[in-house]
Amino acid sequence: MIYLDTAASYPILPEVKEALLKAFEKTFANSASSHLLGEQVSDEISKVREQLADEIGAYPSEIIFTSGATESNNIAFKSFLLGTELTTDKKHIVTTQIEHKCVFAICDYLKSLGYDVTYVKPNRDGIIEAESILNAIRPDTALVSVMHVNNELGTINPIAEIGQVCFDLGVLFHSDAAQSFQKIDINVDDMNVDVMSLSAHKIGGPKGIGAIYIRDLRKKHLMPVIHGAGQEDGLRGGTVAAPLIVGFGKAIEVFSNYYEKFKSRHIKSYLLDQLKLNGIEYQVNGSELALESCISLTLPSINTDVFVRDNESKLCLAQGSACSSKEIEPSHVLTALGLDRKLADHTFRISFPLDISIDDLDFIIAVIAKAR
Ligand SMILES: Cc1ncc(COP(=O)(O)O)c(C=O)c1O
Repeated sequence: MIYLDTAASYPILPEVKEALLKAFEKTFANSASSHLLGEQVSDEISKVREQLADEIGAYPSEIIFTSGATESNNIAFKSFLLGTELTTDKKHIVTTQIEHKCVFAICDYLKSLGYDVTYVKPNRDGIIEAESILNAIRPDTALVSVMHVNNELGTINPIAEIGQVCFDLGVLFHSDAAQSFQKIDINVDDMNVDVMSLSAHKIGGPKGIGAIYIRDLRKKHLMPVIHGAGQEDGLRGGTVAAPLIVGFGKAIEVFSNYYEKFKSRHIKSYLLDQLKLNGIEYQVNGSELALESCISLTLPSINTDVFVRDNESKLCLAQGSACSSKEIEPSHVLTALGLDRKLADHTFRISFPLDISIDDLDFIIAVIAKAR
């Protein structure tokens, strides 16, 4: 089985697995306990908080650990808008048509509370332009939220430019960086980001742990996403998941080295060259300026049903159309790019594992060629 779905989740890295096993054994005390073991656990958590803050140019006091990017996105919207931080007369949100589905669910909820949401369209390359954000901002805009890297296309949005627009207009700016963290350099000051969502399992860490960066967190008046006993600055109650945080820290430490090596192998060019050499018709969706590990590929000449049926047990990859309740629906990202249903049906997201081999790629080409 060739796993081609790392944009959904990376396998745990070996160093992370080792760190996790040790942490489950040793880091079991409650970090809120005032005895020696509790304090040791609290120190371990602080180390990872510092490490994470360093990676994105933030202060440790601006980092809150969460269960992942979905929760962080919930905090970014709900804790700000439903807390007392922002003035209540601002009830407009600007986001985009290509965000992760959780953002749409959060916005639907906020709409039910009277918020108005503008969903900005990407350009033909799948990029959200700063000018489009500028045009969407109104005097009553409370929050702008634009993802850094799109999870279906791998395209990279000009976050620093968008951040500058928001800064100039005094609007809070959130970016979901679940797909970009440790794959692209991030500095929250250079990028003018006020709030940022991160997730460990997108970099070979464990599932169920992530973080949110909040600029000047301690000066903010936010609604807790989980009311609890004061953990994580009162914003996110519940005993802090110390072993998972240790695993997250190890992933932060080792992932980028693996990724740099992966990038230097130019896997994507190899795949596209082989498609060409084999005379297979294809279209890459979204800009060339995309992550090396992710590609959205439309293969108009293949029989998708046969391809999927024949390779169910050989390839793990995401399709451009997926079941949503009982209907097969084209992905909202492809629809935003203007792909019709037929092209979406012929589209696959391939997101490469770090150790993919040339043999694996040749096998993928061979099965695509066979499905024509
Ligand atoms: C861009 C983006 N945001 C949010 C999420 C959700 O992350 P998590 O699984 O950590 O909640 C994902 C993962 O699918 C993602 O790709």
